[in-house]
Amino acid sequence: EAPQLDLFSSEFKRNAYSLYAQLREQEPVYRFMLPNGQTAWLITRYEDAQAALKDSRFIKNPHTLLSQEQMDKWTFPMLERDLLIRNMVASDPPDHTRLRNLVQKAFTPKMIEELRGRIQEIADTLLDEIQDKGNMNVMDDFAFPLPIIVICEMLGIPAEDRDSFRDWSNAIVRAVHLPEKIQEALPQIRSFIKYMGQLIEERRNDPDEDLVSSLIQAETEGEQLTENELYSMIFLLIVAGHETTVNLIGNGVFALLQHPEQWEKLKSHPGLISSAVEEILRFYGPVELASSRWAGEDVPFHEQLIRKGDMIAVALASANRDEAQFIHPDRFDITRKNNRHLAFGTGIHHCLGAPLARLEGQIALLTLLRRMPNLRLSTDPGTLQWVPAYVMRGLVELPVQF
Ligand code: HEM
Repeated sequence: EAPQLDLFSSEFKRNAYSLYAQLREQEPVYRFMLPNGQTAWLITRYEDAQAALKDSRFIKNPHTLLSQEQMDKWTFPMLERDLLIRNMVASDPPDHTRLRNLVQKAFTPKMIEELRGRIQEIADTLLDEIQDKGNMNVMDDFAFPLPIIVICEMLGIPAEDRDSFRDWSNAIVRAVHLPEKIQEALPQIRSFIKYMGQLIEERRNDPDEDLVSSLIQAETEGEQLTENELYSMIFLLIVAGHETTVNLIGNGVFALLQHPEQWEKLKSHPGLISSAVEEILRFYGPVELASSRWAGEDVPFHEQLIRKGDMIAVALASANRDEAQFIHPDRFDITRKNNRHLAFGTGIHHCLGAPLARLEGQIALLTLLRRMPNLRLSTDPGTLQWVPAYVMRGLVELPVQF
């Protein structure tokens, strides 16, 4: 008998990995209802997840499939400037291809490698501020500021404006996770939009070397980008690149401290950092569910028929613990070989920021290992809380001593 699940409950979050294991075994393509009455399917096996993410019959932009009422109720709360629907992760080809090509070259491994020195500097500066205290909350003191500083510098956002981002980012992330919260978040989202407007104006008049300037150039010269798409792109880069990387760092520190023998191994073999970060992505991936897709036509899938207009949710967190793909999937092992996890998705929407996230994660962890080699949890790991957001896995707080 397959379990009855409430995917949006905090109980689900607590027991997610064992519930996913039951689903993989008993009902790998699991039917459930969304709050707006729409049928949705949860896909939990590795092979199916990979196939679904690569299948062009599952599309990202449901406008032609859903009624306005359904759209308004759940899927895409309408925000000013269509922030949530004019970006690449919510688009299909050819829009997707055009939008992604505009920024792809800023995110190649080669371009990202050039940021190494600067990211190291930021990590060291953040730790300088707390080194003498002997304790910190990894989330607020280290994991949160590092990626926001990096992405702001890439976009050309002045240092003094970064603090406002904590407020905006929190509100936006809440709204994106729980669409019914969008009303509460509107004031912050509006002030963020206003801020972007000013930034765009400034760069229009006085272009620089940053990403915002190069996007404005694409908008004015080539007619390759509409103004709403420009806002959406900046919004996506900040939202997609921030909270996820915060949680990679937080979950990474947590996983290593939960498994002290792995922390010690990494300390004595720092060359394992790259495979350690891949294992963190597999074991506690920051993104549990890929963003929604809709069947653009009837799609037979396993013994099920996924009907045109149904939504699918691909459980990356479950795929990454699939025993058919990984040996001892619930074992955290930083030396794991053939770790072809799906933490960054796959197919045409494969994470644009993966090289950046990997580099930030590697530098963050190596810097902690070097400067705070005796790092340990300040509380019983059982008391730590996961953020109650159904698509994300991240800790509310991570108090440590060193
Ligand atoms: C897409 C995960 C960091 C930008 C995605 C997707 C996943 C993901 C799973 C695919 C979503 C889907 O197919 O529905 C992560 C994780 C990160 C991370 C786990 C950190 C550990 C970043 C960073 C940036 C970024 C640092 C940029 C600054 C994007 C963008 C897309 C994307 C633009 C959409 C790509 C497209 O639709 O073609 N990410 N991401 N991500 N990510 Fe990331």
